[in-house]
Amino acid sequence: MSNSIGIHDLSFATGEFVLPHTTLAAYNGTEIGKYHVGIGQESMSIPAADEDIVTMAAAAAAPIVARHGTDRIRTVVFATESSIDQAKAAGIYVHSLIGLPSATRVVELKQACYGATAGLQFAIGLVRRDPAQQVLVIASDVSKYDLDSPGEATQGAAAVAMLVSVDPALVRIEDPSGLFTADVMDFWRPNYRDTALVDGQESIGAYLQAVEGTWKDYQEQGGRSLDEFAAFCYHQPFTKMAYKAHSHLLNFNGYDADKEAVTAALGLTTAYNRVIGNSYTASVYLGLAALLDQADDLTGKSVGFLSYGSGSVAEFFAGTVVAGQREHLRTEANREAIVRRRSIDYAEYRALHEHRLPADGGDHSNPVQTTGPFRLAGISGHKRIYEKR
Ligand code: HMG
Repeated sequence: MSNSIGIHDLSFATGEFVLPHTTLAAYNGTEIGKYHVGIGQESMSIPAADEDIVTMAAAAAAPIVARHGTDRIRTVVFATESSIDQAKAAGIYVHSLIGLPSATRVVELKQACYGATAGLQFAIGLVRRDPAQQVLVIASDVSKYDLDSPGEATQGAAAVAMLVSVDPALVRIEDPSGLFTADVMDFWRPNYRDTALVDGQESIGAYLQAVEGTWKDYQEQGGRSLDEFAAFCYHQPFTKMAYKAHSHLLNFNGYDADKEAVTAALGLTTAYNRVIGNSYTASVYLGLAALLDQADDLTGKSVGFLSYGSGSVAEFFAGTVVAGQREHLRTEANREAIVRRRSIDYAEYRALHEHRLPADGGDHSNPVQTTGPFRLAGISGHKRIYEKR
């Protein structure tokens, strides 16, 4: 039995629209350097009124099913913190939209931005139990803060779908993991709110504490040393956070955190998050996609992953890039998902921010806005109605 399990395929999708930070800055009078340099963000994906975590997830997962078929997929793990229902797993809609067989288990996982990493680890456990099976792990989120709040500039939306399998074509995930949980109120969203609440500075401090905590545990579990890693994929609520996190890790290990060293370690991982914004559960894996799409051959090299979810749970683990991975990348499709977005003005953004599905139980159609493969057509009798376009 092969011991090698990991990410066999990775595909992502994002929203229909994009709001450049220059537009937000022109509206609220912020010096653009604060966005472009201070937090390291250029634009944010905004879903259309007829898009949500399900339509983005289905758009991300459909190419995986098209390439690999459905025969070996017996589990779908859907990680999100922008859940659309308190009971039904969003993955069941995706299961139906992309034509998975009925002999599948589907479940939704939540722990802020960390959920997809839990999903990945649980998937590895399932594949280890039966190497003939594959698990579809989906991370899909819409990050939404109050208008005119400090968090507003860090919104975004995207879904990543990963096929977890034995003998993976992209990245083999290694066994030791560093774990860290702390009960903190740095960022949260009570059930009665559409937008997240956050203590910005507290959340940055909590993230850095988690970097330290996971790293210590990773070392105690017999993990690799810092200089064995060719690159680091951090959770990126805004790309500058990855720079802060890696500087912290270098300092903690007694190294100088000069900008060049930090950029060399993670610069390539920020390309997609910088223009998509915070995609919560998907963020760290968008970092991986950006790294693999742009790096010179990383075959045999180790990549460190730091997944952080507010509240908080974090995990540090390592992956090894597999020989031949370049032939399996989706670089063109990934670039297309980003460049196809239509730029919107501030008024359009505000209307989308304020758009809510009616909650009166009546029949309501959504405006046709998305040009993506799936849409949320409307709601009827409190039931969401999805369709393929
Ligand atoms: P803020 O108060 O608007 O900004 O909040 P600031 O005053 O802290 O400035 C930000 C940076 O811009 C600073 O740099 C300024 O110096 C710099 P730093 O000191 O941090 O290096 N700056 C400039 N730079 C160049 N030119 C200029 C300029 N002006 C200022 N002209 C904050 C920023 C990130 C706190 C806010 O956007 C926020 O609350 N965001 C949401 C929370 C967040 O993303 N937290 C991150 C850690 S928690 C996490 O990652 C989990 C999360 O993803 C949720 C989950 O797990 O589900 C959020």
